[in-house]
Amino acid sequence: MLRTVRVFSLLLVLLLGGVWAYAWAKRAPGEGLAEAFAGRMGRLFGAGMQVPSAGGVQLAQGVSLGGPFSLTDHTGRAVTERDFAGRWMLVYFGFTYCPDVCPTELGTMAAALDAMGPAGEAVVPALVSVDPERDGPAQLADYVSRFHPRLIGLTGTPEQVAEAARRFRVYYAKARRPEMTDYLVDHSGFTYLVGPDGRVRTLFRPDTAPEAMAAAVTAQLANKSAATN
Ligand code: NI
Repeated sequence: MLRTVRVFSLLLVLLLGGVWAYAWAKRAPGEGLAEAFAGRMGRLFGAGMQVPSAGGVQLAQGVSLGGPFSLTDHTGRAVTERDFAGRWMLVYFGFTYCPDVCPTELGTMAAALDAMGPAGEAVVPALVSVDPERDGPAQLADYVSRFHPRLIGLTGTPEQVAEAARRFRVYYAKARRPEMTDYLVDHSGFTYLVGPDGRVRTLFRPDTAPEAMAAAVTAQLANKSAATN
């Protein structure tokens, strides 16, 4: 009997520890660990999880993502955040050799913009490469054209990319798989809605539905015009 209790206690500790570690690894930038843990536990035990408003994850108070960057676009032009001042952007950090996640998320971004109709034209979609060694402007130009006619590809020196990623708290690291000759890049997969001031307003988890992203972006744009009118 005592042995059974011990085994159960051990399993419970392992389970809680596992969920805690998972919550730590998967939490959104700016999302508190306790909040992420509660969300994961809720999902695990089927309890109602709070749904982020309008399909996006709200940033915790005091957390600011985004800001200045200095990169090169897919036409080879040097660009900074000032080139996009006053515009809304949807930004995704990924790389053109990504086998599955990046194409899915860029497809979602494109579908969300199309679902918004003419209002979607107010938003500049952009892919920032986390693989600047392989993703030069020409490589990016070919890649972005497959997803959306207005999608901008951004790359730069490894230092410039690292700085941009730091501003958005994007994690990325080269990874090798035994069965592959080329390397992959592990990276976080959030899509960021950046406001006209260059600051992130909302972020979207991977696997957000295009309709949910479109609704959240539309709501943010409406919010902004209501505030300024
Ligand atoms: Ni990817």
